[in-house]
Parts: sequence; C-alpha cells; structure tokens
Amino acid sequence: MSVSKAEASEYHSKDFNWETLRQEIENDPSLNYHLLPFNSPQPEEQHSNDSIKAWQNFHVQHSSGKFFKERRYLLKEFPELVSCADGSKVLEVGCGNGSTALPILRGNEKIILYACDCSNETLERAKEFIAASNVASVEHRLHPFYCDFATTGFPKFLACDYCREMFSCKDQNCLSDVGEKRTHETDSLSMEERSCCVGGVDFVTLIFTLSAVPLQTMPTAIRECFSVLKPGGLLLFRDYGLYDMTMLRFESDQRVGFREYMRSDGTRSYFFCLDTARNLFISAGFIELEIEYCCVKSVNRRNGESMRRVWVHGKFQKP
Ligand SMILES: C[S@@+](CC[C@H](N)C(=O)[O-])C[C@H]1O[C@@H](n2cnc3c(N)ncnc32)[C@H](O)[C@@H]1O
Repeated sequence: MSVSKAEASEYHSKDFNWETLRQEIENDPSLNYHLLPFNSPQPEEQHSNDSIKAWQNFHVQHSSGKFFKERRYLLKEFPELVSCADGSKVLEVGCGNGSTALPILRGNEKIILYACDCSNETLERAKEFIAASNVASVEHRLHPFYCDFATTGFPKFLACDYCREMFSCKDQNCLSDVGEKRTHETDSLSMEERSCCVGGVDFVTLIFTLSAVPLQTMPTAIRECFSVLKPGGLLLFRDYGLYDMTMLRFESDQRVGFREYMRSDGTRSYFFCLDTARNLFISAGFIELEIEYCCVKSVNRRNGESMRRVWVHGKFQKP
C-alpha cells in the first residue's frame, strides 16, 4: 500500500501490535542509541526561538505547497467535529498550509475555524489552498492568525482574561455542548454580546503540532490550549508515536533530547509514548477520553520498502 492509500485507512488502525514492535526495537543493538538518556545543555528560551525560526524557514523553502496533503481521515477519527452544535468554534493550532483546517471546514458547513501558525508564509498558503477549494462561506468561517502559542500564548480576542476566569467557574453560559446539535443559540451569543472576545472555543485540534514544539515548552503550550477552551470542550490530538519508522531513521547525532530529534533544517520532532502524552494533558487539567496507538503497515511502491507507522490518537476534555 502506498503512503497516501495508507493515510485513507488510518482510522484506529491496528495492522500490527505496538508491544511486539517495542520489543523488537529495544532488542536491536543497532538502534540502542534511541533508548539512551539525554541531558539537554540548551536553555529553554533558546530552544523555542530556534524552533520558530526553523519552522519559518521551512515554510519559505516549501512555499510551493508540495507538502500539502488534506487529512481526509480526520472526521472519521474525530466525528464530534461533524455532530457538534451549529456555530461551534474550532482552534486549529499550528495549521501549516491547511491540511487539517480544510477537511474540518468542508465536513461541517456550520463550523467556525480559527487557525494559527508561527509562520506568516504558511498562513498565506493555507488561505490560498482553502479559498481555491470551493468550501461554502469560507470567507466568513476561516480566521487565520499569526501566533507562537508555546511562548506568547493565544491572543485575547479568542478568550479574554475575564472569559478565561469564567471558564474556571463553569458559568452555564460558557459551557460547550460539543456532543450535540444546538437547536437555538444560547451560550455563544451571550458571550459575544459582551463583545470582549469570541468567547473561547469548543475544540482545539493539535494535529502533528505538539511534536514540533520543544519538549520543555509542551506543558506551557498545553495549559494555553486548556485556557481558551470552554468547560466541556475537547482537545483532539494526533501526533508521532514512539518507534514510528521516521524516528528510527534519525541518526544518533540528530538527537536533541530523549525521544526528541532535529532534522537537518532545524525543525524538531518528538515521539510520544501513551504515558507521556497522557501525563502532559492530565497535568494541564484535562480528563482523558481516548488515547491509543494507531499502527499502520504500508509498503513504499517505489522501493518496496515496508514501513511501520505509529501515531498517537487522543481525545481529552476540559472538565
Ligand atoms: C507538522 S506541521 C502540522 C500542520 C497541520 N496541523 C497539519 O495537520 O498538517 C506543524 C506546524 O506547527 C507550526 N508550529 C510549530 N511551532 C509552533 C508554535 N510554537 N506556534 C504555532 N505554530 C507552530 C509549524 O509552523 C507547522 O506549520
């Protein structure tokens, strides 16, 4: 199966057993360097600045959009994005050129999508791709904006200090009803009437974005996601899993932390085990609804190479 065909069948896939893969990798002496402890000498701030610059350069280098691949499986993984109330608000964090934003906007014509990235270049590409896709009323439903969510946090127009405070009081007017269609406008209207901000969001999507953030800054980044969600809102997570084929391809000198690697262009990638992902979200205050490995076997048509892909699928709720 080619990589693109594999992508269409990624939904909760279990082509192989992750535990068997783990044993195989951990017993292979040639891969032993992936398991060694690592002490990072760089200060946190330096990590973050370098990481942002690397992503900005990456998007300038790849501005042709060759890397654009619509994540068609996304609505199967996260059906709440279709069944949610009309006017529900989604925040797609690290939207890149819109691979996740586009299927969400296409799959639910009543959804409002805020999409941020730390690169203005890629935000422009995302706007172009989505505008060219003939999705209904996209000019009113897509709100792209620049933001480094891990360092400076989300802008106040998403959720002002007052609303963030209200979310922690679980005011009835702030509650998200992500699970059901709403028949009449209640909560979002009353928030908007205050005209302080958009009143927070019902969903945050973190799709292959958290792994791009330095491990040290992940707790702050997740707390920020928590703070803009309405009580009851969902954080939808998908990212690289431990012992994914792409992790095993990194050389030992590309390690920049434990299970953390840097590509030759300076962008980073972290590979999550279930416990690390779970602990990060629970420490920020979330309740775990789902977390599992998604294991997909595919064969590269060009060279016949067999590839075992591992992703972590997670769903977390703000109490
Ligand atoms: C692998 S891409 C994922 C894109 C998209 N979510 C998708 O589903 O394809 C990671 C994106 O996160 C962005 N990013 C990395 N660090 C960020 C940060 N601190 N704040 C905002 N965006 C960031 C990068 O510019 C990049 O576009």
